[in-house]
Amino acid sequence: MSASTGEPVLRVEGLRTVVETPRGTVTAVTDMDLSVHAGETVAVVGESGSGKSAFAYSIIRLVQPPGRVAAGRILLGGRDILPLDEAAMRDIRGREMAMVFQEPSTSLNPLMPVGAQVAEAILLHEKDVTRAHARARTLDLLRLVGIPAPERRVDEYPHQLSGGMRQRIVIAMALACRPALLLADEPTTALDVTVQAQVLDLIDRLKAELGMGVVLITHDLGLVADHAQRVAVIYAGRKVEEGPAEAVLSDPAHPYTRALLACRPDPWQDASQPLVEIPGVVPPPLARPPGCAFAPRCAMAEPACRSVIPTLNPIGPGRQVACLVASRERAAA
Ligand SMILES: Nc1ncnc2c1ncn2[C@@H]1O[C@H](COP(=O)(O)OP(=O)(O)OP(=O)(O)O)[C@@H](O)[C@H]1O
Ligand SMILES: [Mg+2]
Repeated sequence: MSASTGEPVLRVEGLRTVVETPRGTVTAVTDMDLSVHAGETVAVVGESGSGKSAFAYSIIRLVQPPGRVAAGRILLGGRDILPLDEAAMRDIRGREMAMVFQEPSTSLNPLMPVGAQVAEAILLHEKDVTRAHARARTLDLLRLVGIPAPERRVDEYPHQLSGGMRQRIVIAMALACRPALLLADEPTTALDVTVQAQVLDLIDRLKAELGMGVVLITHDLGLVADHAQRVAVIYAGRKVEEGPAEAVLSDPAHPYTRALLACRPDPWQDASQPLVEIPGVVPPPLARPPGCAFAPRCAMAEPACRSVIPTLNPIGPGRQVACLVASRERAAA
């Protein structure tokens, strides 16, 4: 199926996720809309604390109390999964959608051989698979994710594998039942640059082979050009810009996206030079200013930005921006 036709694998509408704390209700994600088609990677980009993980946990229904999804719809293959109970969700997790978590090592049991963990992921969802068949499928999966000498590695424990190999095992577990949707939360942050590229290339290849939709969560806009077709930029729990990756990267509309791009490390830069950072920090959820949450850090902010929360406006094919100034500029252009 082409990346732009038919029912999306995932459609999120008006998602709002909150955490009740003694000091008040923290809004981790709000007004989030996002669609992902089969064979498409959509990157979700934003600084630390912007709500990326909260968004992914909401989709796979693993938000832990006192957190909860407070509003919205999460349509998986057209069916809203928000009303489903935990038993129904357990059936969907792994089989229809899977997640590679931000801390890969926490997904593995240190006391169990890695192959047995992948086999368990298969046996959990496919009741009539024999153990011998599950082991054969496991070896195929280890091969698929590029584990060398899988016949030997299959019986090794997590500590016997390098960080890159462990991450491949985690991906093999996520792909064990060929999910239609893969949520990858900073899947390569803990890895060095070479292994990072290999793991992302692997996800790209498997996406094409299995026809999955992928949500790639990252704080690194540098990865977006090579690995995503579309990008959603989030700031303080809200989507501030979305569009085709190439268009957003070459011609960013939101001042926040521009600032993120300006902060990308220059590969030719002397390593002793400090990295550029956007001045200021993401406002903590209980101290968000009225109006646009980026206004206090924004060089373009006008008085109205400090009182009105901007809505997303269309600014071109498949493109939207939530910024009073950018919307006006683009409308005039
Ligand atoms: N249990 C909780 N109690 C209070 N606040 C929480 C809780 N869980 C999440 N939050 C808040 O929700 C917001 C979003 O957090 P989240 O972990 O989703 O950010 P992130 O974009 O994934 O950041 P990072 O890049 O560091 O992984 C943060 O401001 C965080 O402080
Ligand atoms: Mg996170």
